[in-house]
Amino acid sequence: MICSCITSTKNEEMSQIVNKGLERAVVQSKYMAESLWNEKDKLPRTIGKDGKFVTSTSRWWTSGFFPGVLWYLYEMTADDSLKLYAEDYTWRVKDEQYTTDNHDVGFMLYCSFGNGYRLTGDEQYKKILLQGAESLSTRFRPTVGCIRSWDWNKKVWEYPVIIDNMMNLELLDWASKNSDSTKYVNIAKSHADVTMKYHFRPDYSCYHVVSYDTISGQPEKKNTCQGYAHKSSWARGQGWALYGYTMMYRETKELKYLEHAKKVAQFIINHPRLPEDKIPYWDFDAPNIPNELRDASAGAIIASALIELSQYTEGDFSRQCLSVAEIQLKTLSSPEYLAEPGTNCNFILKHSVGNFPGNGEVDVPLTYADYYYVEALVRYKRDILKEKI
Ligand code: GLY
Repeated sequence: MICSCITSTKNEEMSQIVNKGLERAVVQSKYMAESLWNEKDKLPRTIGKDGKFVTSTSRWWTSGFFPGVLWYLYEMTADDSLKLYAEDYTWRVKDEQYTTDNHDVGFMLYCSFGNGYRLTGDEQYKKILLQGAESLSTRFRPTVGCIRSWDWNKKVWEYPVIIDNMMNLELLDWASKNSDSTKYVNIAKSHADVTMKYHFRPDYSCYHVVSYDTISGQPEKKNTCQGYAHKSSWARGQGWALYGYTMMYRETKELKYLEHAKKVAQFIINHPRLPEDKIPYWDFDAPNIPNELRDASAGAIIASALIELSQYTEGDFSRQCLSVAEIQLKTLSSPEYLAEPGTNCNFILKHSVGNFPGNGEVDVPLTYADYYYVEALVRYKRDILKEKI
């Protein structure tokens, strides 16, 4: 009896937090969608050093996130104006189906057209997603067993694979389930297996960039790009790893991916420098902790992944995953992180860090922080509170 009272009080509190976050997300996203309505090649990105709104074309890796936010909010509200915005912003990303010069096709298309197809079953969306998976698959090299992430900095990295790339595999898993070709899922599994072997350290933290020798297929450099140091644990990278392996387990049901996701989760949630409010510093090894910036985007990605992982696990571990995610959602939904309506250039969250060493997008809103925050709210409402959506 006592136990169920505690659970229902906690559920009520979480329900209020989740609903407040979603309501705020709707208000901000409608303002945002209106603000770029007449500029059909633009998508929201961040706020610049001068305090001004920064947009991108579809070419930038974050182009699919705002359409994805709109789809999730349409799913939550059945509000037709959100559907109209979601469709319009999704089409803005369509040219990326032919992108073969970087690995971000999965982020760009799966968050936008992927959510659109899931909710509408529109055959045009399916065609674009399948073309996108084909484009992405051209970046796979069997000798290495991975998709090549970047084409820049070739003098330093012969064949760079970044941990972020785990996120693009969801499009490939989807493509095999929605076509008659197993090629895509086989590439995804190979990429996940090789990354598991070479990106991780004995404590299950991971490097950001591993560059491979294309003749031997062996890793030759283990570096960072956006983290504090080669050997440090860049917070968002740990988030991509956690989310990526949890997703690979969902899509393939192969236990090795679940076991790996659990180890990565343990590294994150038991880390002595994860603050009490559970929003990580931008790097777990940043030199001046506690006087370092937090990264809301890492907090949101980890929250979304932990909610999902808690559903595939049991007992204390599952409860611990959920409890960390709950604290993260509470923190992100507090005034410190959640923007007041009409402020923050209409982004939902404040205080993310894009590229600290490059002095790019530091302590600003980022469209992907918004996406994973909204996704985490949706997952919590649907899977934990079991509220009708
Ligand atoms: N995929 C780039 C980043 O996480 O910043």
